[in-house]
Amino acid sequence: MDLGIVGRTAIVCASSRGLGRACAVELARAGCRVVVNGRDAAVLERTAAEIRGATGAEVVAVAADVATPEGQDALLKAAPAPDILVNNNAGPPFADFRALDREALLKGVVGNMVVPIELVQRVIDGMVERRFGRIVNITSASVKMPLAGLDLSSGARAGLTGFLAGVARSVARANVTINFLLPGPFETDRLRSNVEAAARGRGVPAEQVAEERRKGNPAGRFGDPAEFGAACAFLCSAQAGYITGQSLLIDGGAYPGVL
Ligand SMILES: NC(=O)c1ccc[n+]([C@@H]2O[C@H](COP(=O)([O-])OP(=O)(O)OC[C@H]3O[C@@H](n4cnc5c(N)ncnc54)[C@H](OP(=O)(O)O)[C@@H]3O)[C@@H](O)[C@H]2O)c1
Repeated sequence: MDLGIVGRTAIVCASSRGLGRACAVELARAGCRVVVNGRDAAVLERTAAEIRGATGAEVVAVAADVATPEGQDALLKAAPAPDILVNNNAGPPFADFRALDREALLKGVVGNMVVPIELVQRVIDGMVERRFGRIVNITSASVKMPLAGLDLSSGARAGLTGFLAGVARSVARANVTINFLLPGPFETDRLRSNVEAAARGRGVPAEQVAEERRKGNPAGRFGDPAEFGAACAFLCSAQAGYITGQSLLIDGGAYPGVL
């Protein structure tokens, strides 16, 4: 399927590994010029080279912390007028909510709510002027189905979803859309480290915990990041211009609700 975005420029935050990387790959495959990002410059450069090699796309690597104003400046210097923004960042670590002091609470809210809003503020007027914009926010299934120990993640991301819900309606006339992708369990470094931590806590092998979790999902497996990247690319397509303000859960059916 031709997604109608050949020649568009995309900033994909936090994309040297995992779900962000998968989004960058699919946008590059769709013909976009892609800015990839991560803090570890060596990993990022390797990712950029691999995406160039696999897709032939122009891929610009910006090694920076997306949570800082300097990091955001660097991303926008590499792509001052992006057509597509994929907001992504590390999520807060697992923690009992009682153990979160004010500093930890604010760090989670800044990282998963304030930072993506700041980037939207910086790119959206240009998108409106150019009459094309696609903003996808990677949040979490925990927005819809709370998970113990991820309360800060759920709260900050739900805050982002609520904040941008009104913004999405305010720019829809200009062919600028804002949507949310809610990952369930996808096979990434983050998932692997969560599984290892759970296994250590129980004193059992990591593979045992992983197998239990795979079996507990209706699809009987973890998600493949490539599946996530493909959904992201579709939301960024020309054809997706009438989809806005939506939260798409991609979790193999784990969420038990009907709607
Ligand atoms: N995988 C899942 O099953 C799952 C489920 C629900 C929600 N999520 C959420 O989805 C998001 C992506 O998860 P993932 O599984 O893809 O994680 P991951 O495999 O750990 O990858 C995280 C990526 O983000 C980059 N990154 C982290 N902090 C950054 C920062 N401050 N500035 C720039 N880049 C940064 C990392 O590179 P550097 O470390 O080099 O900076 C890496 O490229 C997270 O918010 C996570 O909470 C994931």
